[in-house]
Amino acid sequence: DKVKIKDVLATNVEDMSNVTVYGWTRTKRGSKNIAFLELNDGSCLKNLQIVILNPSNFPKLDKINTGTSLKVTGYIEQVEGREQSVEMKAESIEIIGDCPADYPLQKKEHSFDFLRENAHLRPRTDTFGVMNRFRSKMSYAVHQFFQERDFNYIQTPIITANDTEGAGEVFQVTNFDLADIPLDEAGQVDYTQDFFAEKTGLTVSGQLEAEILACGLGDVYTFGPTFRAENSNTSRHAAEFWMIEPEMAFCDLDDNMEVIEEFLKYLFKYALEECQEEMEFFNQQIAAEDKIATLKEIIATDFGKITYTEAIEILEKAEQDFEYPVKWGIDLKTEHERYLTEEYFEKPIMVTDYPFDIKAFYMRLNDDQKTVRAVDCLVPGVGEIVGGSQREERYDVLIDLMQQMDMDLDKYDWFLESREYGTVPHSGFGLGFERILMYISGMSNIRDVISFPRTPGNAKF
Ligand code: 4AD
Ligand code: MG
Repeated sequence: DKVKIKDVLATNVEDMSNVTVYGWTRTKRGSKNIAFLELNDGSCLKNLQIVILNPSNFPKLDKINTGTSLKVTGYIEQVEGREQSVEMKAESIEIIGDCPADYPLQKKEHSFDFLRENAHLRPRTDTFGVMNRFRSKMSYAVHQFFQERDFNYIQTPIITANDTEGAGEVFQVTNFDLADIPLDEAGQVDYTQDFFAEKTGLTVSGQLEAEILACGLGDVYTFGPTFRAENSNTSRHAAEFWMIEPEMAFCDLDDNMEVIEEFLKYLFKYALEECQEEMEFFNQQIAAEDKIATLKEIIATDFGKITYTEAIEILEKAEQDFEYPVKWGIDLKTEHERYLTEEYFEKPIMVTDYPFDIKAFYMRLNDDQKTVRAVDCLVPGVGEIVGGSQREERYDVLIDLMQQMDMDLDKYDWFLESREYGTVPHSGFGLGFERILMYISGMSNIRDVISFPRTPGNAKF
């Protein structure tokens, strides 16, 4: 029976005299009289050292290279004065899969660029082993947070006719043969002949459907893939990312902001307490600062809170030349977000009440008639990680806002009915899962926190 190397290293195995492990060879060294293998099976960062006392008894040893997969049986012994407290004395070694010497992941430091080009092999490296285990644990933490608070986990459609954010970043989905698209009499694409009888795409957000479910179930959350055809080749944008979108009925922006702060701090705490191996690795190998200390500090401090208008005032007074000029009404650019979080507050902040003109149609209009009850959470190093709002629940006001944005009201009749029939104040937000992983780990490129990044020009693996 198969034992995980993590359990062997923790001496968490019943019979230490007869253990079988499976894994990939990281290194091989030795002489005529003794040989050593380092074996990793993906269960933890550390390798198991395999000691071969009589190499001449293992004629196939020559065929074992870095990358070769093995089944090894032997007995476990305690060792003194080494980082690992146990090693395995091999009694039998079976080669499962040969690995030729041109295996790209030879034992040396590889650049992130090189590893991205080998995204199909990088899960076998220390960094991406750690990152994938971290991602798995943090996914669990997300569910645990909401399940503990009695939220319902909902699934919203991936194919949809809506562009929730209205930013024109929808990937189109069609059943048409692209070489032979049917046109109507006016020479326009005739979507009535398409699979769904209308123009559809991949979801940019599950929010509208989450609103519908919240206005029936109370508290709900999504955790799913989200797609945006953003033409921005940046280190923080992916065309396919995972978003967590809670939506809460009978909930205003202040309640919403409390949940955001509690949720983020919960994730930080979870990382520190439940992902110690990963956090120590990130701290030593990845982050540019002492991330463990920073997160501890942040958990113990309140996030900064300012309105958009106050943020603009701070930026206008800043003794710094911004590339993009600051004035009321602009969308905050990375340089502005960085100044606010890294220079001015030096901690995560929540910015509220943005101008209506730069936000999506569904946000609740303030009495000043020009700002809306939006909140963005910005963090040092990464920028925006959360976008949320109190939703416009007043039917007439919402119709008016949608008309101002030239939206097709007929298309959203189902959505508007939630305001016609027993409307309630409700709020929610979206957390970019990759963004929070970047922030906690200190990883600086989104391509390195998701296994198969989808970015312009990259969909091969
Ligand atoms: O600010 P956004 O666009 O908000 C929404 O989609 C709302 N419907 C959420 C809601 O209220 N239910 O996106 C939310 C978050 C951003 O703050 C960011 O963390 C992440 O999603 N995000 C991206 N992450 C990676 N790559 C991209 N291209 C992203 N676009 C947004
Ligand atoms: Mg946003």
